[in-house]
Amino acid sequence: IDYETIRSETRGRVGWITLHRPDALNALNTTVMREVVDAATRFDADERIGAIVLTGSEKAFAAGADIKEMADKSGLEMTMDDHFGAWARFAAVRTPVVAAVSGYALGGGCELAMMCDVILAADTARFGQPEINLGVIPGMGGTQRLLRAVGPYKAAELILTGRMMDAAEAERAGLVSRVVPAADLLDEADKTASTIAGKSLPSLYAAKAALAAAQESSLAEGLRYEKQAFAALFDTEDQKEGMAAFREKRPPHFTHR
Ligand code: HXC
Repeated sequence: IDYETIRSETRGRVGWITLHRPDALNALNTTVMREVVDAATRFDADERIGAIVLTGSEKAFAAGADIKEMADKSGLEMTMDDHFGAWARFAAVRTPVVAAVSGYALGGGCELAMMCDVILAADTARFGQPEINLGVIPGMGGTQRLLRAVGPYKAAELILTGRMMDAAEAERAGLVSRVVPAADLLDEADKTASTIAGKSLPSLYAAKAALAAAQESSLAEGLRYEKQAFAALFDTEDQKEGMAAFREKRPPHFTHR
C-alpha cells in the first residue's frame, strides 16, 4: 500500500511502520494518524505478523501532534471531531508493538511511544511533554501513561516544566525498556521484534492483554484476569507443543493455534 506520510513493510514475521514526514519532524497530523492506524490494523489482522516495529527518523521519532493543524481549532471542534480519537485504535492492537525511538519524542510523539509495549531508545533520544509551553496539556494519554511509567513526582515535573529528558534519564526513570547506540537502533529493534514474533501468537495476545489489565485494574482484578488467561492457553496446540518441545529438548514449532 502506498501511504503518504508513513512507510509500511514486512520483514519476516515483523511488520514495520516508519513515520515519514521529514519536513515536519514527523509531526502527527490527521493523515499520519489515519495511516498508522490503518497499517497497524492490517498487521494486527494478519497471522503472519507476530510483532510490529514503529519508528521515525534519526532526528525525530515524532515532535508531537501537528501544531499547525490544530492551532486554530475551537474546543467544540476538538470535541466534535474527536481530533486524536483514532489513536485509541493503535493502542488497542493485540500484536506487540516495539517503538524504536531516535531523536525527539515530544508531546504526542512521547505519548505515541507510550502506546507501544516495548520502547527501545537510541542514545540520542529525547523525551518530553512540552504542551505546557503551548498553553495546553498532554492530550493523547501523557498525564496518565507517563505518571504510570515514571511515578507522580517525575511526571509532574516533566509535564509542568515541559523540559526534555535524554535517553539515560528516561531509562533510569523507567520510561524506556533499553537504550542502545544510535547506529544499532534498527538492528536491535529488528532483533527484539523478531524474538517476540517467534513466539506463539495466542500467548503473545494473552501476555499483552494481561499487562494492560495490570495498568487498568486493581491488583485483585488483575490477578483474576491473569489466572483465567493463563488457564485458557492450555487449550492451545502451541502450549502442548511448547511443553513437549521442552521435554524433548528441542526448539518448539509454534503454529499459532
Ligand atoms: C508541526 C512541527 C512540529 C510540530 C516541528 N515542526 N515540530 N510542525 N507540529 N509538533 C516543524 C517545524 O515547524 C519546522 O518546519 C520543522 O518541523 C523543523 O523543526 P525546527 O523547529 O526547525 O527544528 P529544530 O530547530 O531542530 O527544533 C526541533 C524541536 C522543535 C525542538 C523538536 O521543532 C519543537 O519544539 N517542536 C515542537 C515540539 C512540541 O511542542 N511538541 C508538542 C506538540 S503538542 P518549518 O516548515 O516551520 O521550518 C502535542 C499535543 C499532544 O503533541 C496531545 C494532542 C491531543
